[in-house]
Amino acid sequence: FRVAVVHGVNLDQLGRRDPAHYGGTTFRDLERQVADFAGELDLIPRFFQTNYEGALVEYLHRAEGLVDGIVINPGAWTHYAWAIRDALELSGVPAVEVHLSDVSKREPWRHHSVIAALCIATITGRGAAGYRDALEILRDELRLRQP
Ligand code: DQA
Repeated sequence: FRVAVVHGVNLDQLGRRDPAHYGGTTFRDLERQVADFAGELDLIPRFFQTNYEGALVEYLHRAEGLVDGIVINPGAWTHYAWAIRDALELSGVPAVEVHLSDVSKREPWRHHSVIAALCIATITGRGAAGYRDALEILRDELRLRQP
């Protein structure tokens, strides 16, 4: 299966962000690790990161033809970007939400996710390992949906 691994705003700055929440890994290293996880799970990953909300919306508009499923960490957009939520719905493919940090133990404004109800699962607080869990859940779902 082809899987999009999508990151939103500020996640390209990993490595410079608070290590107490995000660890010390750079974004490049994170994408490398996720590529390895995908390979182990027989998935073909495709990576996308942007700091522009409209660019993410347009990527999600194109997703249906490009991939079979999506792993998405929208960063702060998670908590308020309804346009991203609507675009994810339009993508028409199953999605799993991932957060590196445990958002439920942080500021109250991080407790709500506008995309959670659309996603088949949400993984938080597991750092990079959370992406492996997310890819595995997505692969199992895609297998079930196979004709
Ligand atoms: C995040 C959590 C968000 O609240 C935050 O704005 C981020 C990263 C995470 O991966 O833990 O940018 O999505």
